[in-house]
Amino acid sequence: MGLRITLFVTALLLSGAASLKSQAYFNETADLPCQFTNSQNISLGELIIFWQDQQMLVLYELYLGNEKPDNVATKYLGRTSFDQDNWTMRLHNVQIKDKGSYQCFVHHKGPKGFLHLFQMTSELSVFANFSEPEIRLLSNITEKSGINLTCSSSQGYPQPIKISFLLKTQNSTVEHDGVMVISQDNDTELYNVSASLSVPFPDGTNNVTVICVVYTDSTEIFSPPFNTVLLDSSKPEDQILLVAIVTILIISALVVIFIVALFLNKRKKRQQQQIAGSCEETIKMESEETKERVKIHEPEQNDEEAQCIVIHYSKTPSGNNNATHF
Ligand SMILES: *[C@@H]1O[C@H](CO)[C@@H](O)[C@H](O)[C@H]1NC(C)=O
Ligand SMILES: *[C@@H]1O[C@H](CO)[C@@H](O)[C@H](O)[C@H]1NC(C)=O
Ligand SMILES: *[C@@H]1O[C@H](CO)[C@@H](O)[C@H](O)[C@H]1NC(C)=O
Ligand SMILES: *[C@@H]1O[C@H](CO)[C@@H](O)[C@H](O)[C@H]1NC(C)=O
Ligand SMILES: *[C@@H]1O[C@H](CO)[C@@H](O)[C@H](O)[C@H]1NC(C)=O
Ligand SMILES: *[C@@H]1O[C@H](CO)[C@@H](O)[C@H](O)[C@H]1NC(C)=O
Ligand SMILES: *[C@@H]1O[C@H](CO)[C@@H](O)[C@H](O)[C@H]1NC(C)=O
Ligand SMILES: *[C@@H]1O[C@H](CO)[C@@H](O)[C@H](O)[C@H]1NC(C)=O
Ligand SMILES: *[C@@H]1O[C@H](CO)[C@@H](O)[C@H](O)[C@H]1NC(C)=O
Repeated sequence: MGLRITLFVTALLLSGAASLKSQAYFNETADLPCQFTNSQNISLGELIIFWQDQQMLVLYELYLGNEKPDNVATKYLGRTSFDQDNWTMRLHNVQIKDKGSYQCFVHHKGPKGFLHLFQMTSELSVFANFSEPEIRLLSNITEKSGINLTCSSSQGYPQPIKISFLLKTQNSTVEHDGVMVISQDNDTELYNVSASLSVPFPDGTNNVTVICVVYTDSTEIFSPPFNTVLLDSSKPEDQILLVAIVTILIISALVVIFIVALFLNKRKKRQQQQIAGSCEETIKMESEETKERVKIHEPEQNDEEAQCIVIHYSKTPSGNNNATHF
């Protein structure tokens, strides 16, 4: 019922027969008329009406008022019907292969035998509407990858002219032509098409609506709008990670410094205790002597110098001299 047929009488052939253009959709029904004006009011019982394709294969024959399948080619058997009111033959379940020219013939069986009365040619074009284009993401949208998506549409005929993408932002619409990839179904001869788009995310926005358009000879088919949003989430994630790493590094550094400081401090204390110990001994020893002297104490396993300076002043007033030894 949804079938729309447009018929144009385009030319009158030199033979006087009319040629007519007929259109049908794939898998639907084609009307192939025979525009014979029966001015003499000849009854169908005296007429032979039949249709042939380009290869002279018979699609349908009405012989003296009765359908006669004997001459009908097997590929057309069961696919045709005839409307006696307007002399139109209908071809059902139209395939892409059915496109081409068809001829109807009208012969009159009179007393003197068969007489050719009429003949006309129809050109049948077959169309299939491409499916609504569908957009799919090829990779998630990030600032680095930009917009990377594909659009596909299937089961159409004939080939589309082009596929393009409309990128709509708040203030502008930019059109990008896609590189079309076409494949054909060997069996049905229908086409599947796809195109991909890979563009940087437009500046100054984080919200772009993409619409894919498939252009055919007769029409433009639009995909549903596909919203792409540049999420800032990738950036904060990185920043959080960075902050975390830096924090951990700083904390570790502080801990290491603290431990080292503690260690050094402890060792210093220990050394000072050692020094203090040795100094006491020295003082004891020294105090037994009655000499002024300075002792330098050097710790065994240390690069850091700890000094113990002990200075004794002789209480004997007859001190020869005040000497300092290092
Ligand atoms: C042809 O039409 C029939 C119903 O009319 C449907 O079931 C079938 O899927 C259609 N085939 C194709 C290839 O579109
Ligand atoms: C044609 O013939 C039918 C009967 O076969 C008749 O009813 C009709 O009026 C005729 N029409 C013309 C235009 O002669
Ligand atoms: C012929 O008539 C039938 C109904 O009687 C109609 O469905 C069809 O569209 C007509 N065809 C043309 C070519 O007028
Ligand atoms: C194909 O598309 C046209 C308009 O784009 C529409 O009028 C027609 O009904 C569609 N045919 C089928 C079979 O879907
Ligand atoms: C996009 O990212 C999600 C996780 O964030 C992942 O599950 C999905 O597979 C990704 N999609 C593509 C097309 O890379
Ligand atoms: C787009 O996605 C495809 C498939 O995942 C990939 O091969 C290609 O490198 C991507 N392009 C960009 C610009 O990210
Ligand atoms: C279609 O036919 C071509 C060659 O004629 C062949 O290479 C291809 O594999 C066929 N595809 C299918 C889906 O049968
Ligand atoms: C869009 O236009 C509005 C006002 O017309 C302006 O405030 C805004 O900045 C524009 N946005 C972009 C991305 O240019
Ligand atoms: C993107 O912008 C459209 C209109 O410009 C708006 O309707 C939609 O809510 C926005 N989406 C986001 C996620 O901002």
